[in-house]
Amino acid sequence: MGVWSGVVILKVARMGHPVLRMRAADVQPEELRSGAIAALAADMMDTMEEYEGVGLAAPQVHVAKRLAVIEVPAGLRREGDQGFPRTVLVNPVATPLTDELVSEWEGCLSIPELIGLVPRPARVRLEWTGLDGERRSEEVTGFAAAAVQHELDHLDGVLYVDRIRDMRTLQFTREFARFGRRKGGEGG
Ligand code: NI
Repeated sequence: MGVWSGVVILKVARMGHPVLRMRAADVQPEELRSGAIAALAADMMDTMEEYEGVGLAAPQVHVAKRLAVIEVPAGLRREGDQGFPRTVLVNPVATPLTDELVSEWEGCLSIPELIGLVPRPARVRLEWTGLDGERRSEEVTGFAAAAVQHELDHLDGVLYVDRIRDMRTLQFTREFARFGRRKGGEGG
């Protein structure tokens, strides 16, 4: 916790740092009970907000644990998209509920200033443990489904650039804003 403002901005690991390519370890019940995970998650939320991401995974702040934070405003990319509320995801698992793939423009705080088009299952069942130790489950659609899958990939050492099908879609955000169509945030 920050002494002065209560806000802690963590250093974000960039592509090339080995922590982004590891399989992260499960969070243990005692780590959850000790409050260590809640404290880290609070700092991750501050960091996500500072960099205007919609999600952030623990490996991105150099902690190889299965922990992520997410907040996707409703209607961020498309009208009617449900979004996903500000949530701490401990030991999350996503199971595709459809074979239908949807492509979204994704960026990543660990790969600054780039954006690319990534196909992913349109609908997933997300299961996770909350800070209270309770297991939860939610069906996720729209851009939030892409955001969730992007964050969970980080826990397995996978980056969105690994999943781009047409590398010609990979571009700098500045050029994308100039020449492409652009709505909403840059991802996590
Ligand atoms: Ni990311």
